[in-house]
Amino acid sequence: MAPRVVLVGPMGAGKTTVAGLLGEAWGVPVRDTDADIEASTGREISDIFVESGEEHFRDLEAAAVAAALAEHDGVLALGGGAVLRSATRELLADVPVVFLRVGLSDAVKRVGLGVGRPLLLGNVRSRIKALLDERTPVYESVATHVVETDGRLPLEVAADIQELL
Ligand code: S3P
Repeated sequence: MAPRVVLVGPMGAGKTTVAGLLGEAWGVPVRDTDADIEASTGREISDIFVESGEEHFRDLEAAAVAAALAEHDGVLALGGGAVLRSATRELLADVPVVFLRVGLSDAVKRVGLGVGRPLLLGNVRSRIKALLDERTPVYESVATHVVETDGRLPLEVAADIQELL
């Protein structure tokens, strides 16, 4: 079993919202690795980062992605940093992966003050810029398709994905 599509991209790309729309349109279940981690640990992502550190979170995330890829045949949204682990990138090799591209301005608008996103504490705009610069090549390397999200509604993005797949 494998997901019908995996959505990757930075915070503020709209992965969770678009995943929900695709799940509705296709009548398939939706999973989100951040939600899986919160459900299995009973802790919020921000608390895991602050109390146990980012590396521990990445371990939990890698395990959550592997489990979802093995068990789930609907739409799967990954946390923005999940592709940082090479083992995760390898697991994505056989699956349709859509990179939801977003530019700095739209990402900043969509995350607002960054509440609940520990990597954005401090200056949201400069943190997002650094993450986009560092990770865009990684998202591109795992993606089978890229969909533009700047200035577009989640429904328009979901419609593009349905046309592509
Ligand atoms: C992160 C993105 C978040 C969450 C965590 C770390 C990242 O998920 O996994 O705060 O490293 O980009 P979203 O992309 O769903 O916000």
